[in-house]
Amino acid sequence: MSHRPSLPVRINFVWEMLPFLLFGFLFVRLGFMKNLDSHPVATPPCLPEAARFLVWPIRGDLAFLNHGSFGSVPEPIREAYNAHRKRIESDPIEWIGRRAESCTMEVCNALGSFVDCDPAGIGLVTNATSGVGSVLRSLPLRAGDRLVTTDHVYNAVRMAMTHRARATGAVYEEVPIVMGPRLPLSLDPLASAIATGDPPALVVLDHVTSATGAVLRIEPIIQLCRTRGVPILIDGAHAPGMLPLSIRALDADWYTGNLHKWVCAPKGCGFLFAHERVREMTHPESISHLLDQGFWKEFSWQGTRDLAAWWTIPDALALWESIGWRAIREHNSALCTWGQSVIESAWKVEPLLARSTLNQGSMAIISLPSAIQQQWATPELLMSHLHDQHLVEVPVIPWQGKWHVRISAHLHNKPSDYERLARAIADSLS
Ligand SMILES: Cc1ncc(COP(=O)(O)O)c(C=O)c1O
Repeated sequence: MSHRPSLPVRINFVWEMLPFLLFGFLFVRLGFMKNLDSHPVATPPCLPEAARFLVWPIRGDLAFLNHGSFGSVPEPIREAYNAHRKRIESDPIEWIGRRAESCTMEVCNALGSFVDCDPAGIGLVTNATSGVGSVLRSLPLRAGDRLVTTDHVYNAVRMAMTHRARATGAVYEEVPIVMGPRLPLSLDPLASAIATGDPPALVVLDHVTSATGAVLRIEPIIQLCRTRGVPILIDGAHAPGMLPLSIRALDADWYTGNLHKWVCAPKGCGFLFAHERVREMTHPESISHLLDQGFWKEFSWQGTRDLAAWWTIPDALALWESIGWRAIREHNSALCTWGQSVIESAWKVEPLLARSTLNQGSMAIISLPSAIQQQWATPELLMSHLHDQHLVEVPVIPWQGKWHVRISAHLHNKPSDYERLARAIADSLS
């Protein structure tokens, strides 16, 4: 007796199998995605409802995976900025000469609520570089004093510390951070450097490191510094907007941050918070008319500058507030983690750092396959190639002898941005 099914039964069978066949075809066709089944994070997050119609000026055809360097200003914030500029230009002496102080005070009040600190301790600056510079210039340093940081320090901060050490005879020290794919980052060597020998004259510690995007556990180091009476400055250039922040709870001596990165304020919006115990000794880098009139006044006037950028800070905060900070952070962090795992699967590379180091952050470092490093003379050439040929903007970072990319996620990013980067590199290897 034949077991061959009759024709309608065979057609039926093919029909039922069709979705599986199609899926199989797609699975093979998208070769670079064949490792997706090993993804730790299977699906990308949805955009928060209230952010769906937000207009960004970023080119529609560009996968912009470097929000971390300079951010980007969405339309509602740019409009608010233009309105402030127009108002200033309509009556310059009134706004810059007579009303600047009260407008700047409103900014500090709004910012103080956002980062949870005393607004009287907020000095507005142009950027984190200027925040760090203000602290370095304010410290009375002598020959032999120790200026201590880690090997994850941002290069411009390294230069500022080196320069100040040179001018005063102080000693610049860089302590390694212990890291690995299965290790949480360890700040133990930094703790030993603080606890042994002469107490440092200053410790500078990143909150989110630029090279790796790791979120450091800064609290124990701040506590150690407090116990030893060592002044500590937290370089939080990336933290405001990326992480929930309570400067009050951290209790560092100084905290500097940028608002033109993750808060998407216009360029030129940074701040330096000084705790009450160091406030009187802290001066802006540019000394102007208001010397000796107290910390807040000195920072409020550092010479003629673009006050409209600072005055846009509350508008930027209000926009994100209306979408919901928690939803934004959860989205950005989840999208970054998803993108990281898509790319690592496609390139078949191990995570450089334990995933826990992302710790709610929205930047991640991914090792490039080593063959890529042989194809390009410099990281800059690879970056330009990715931009010009593949419409992907991503920083290529040489770190400890190898090249990596540092991806980021904000509300303008789509899952296809990460897939495009994954494909661009995977294709150049085949
Ligand atoms: C950790 C860190 N510190 C300081 C800075 C300096 O920021 P800015 O160039 O805005 O002064 C950056 C810039 O990316 C940074 O990543």
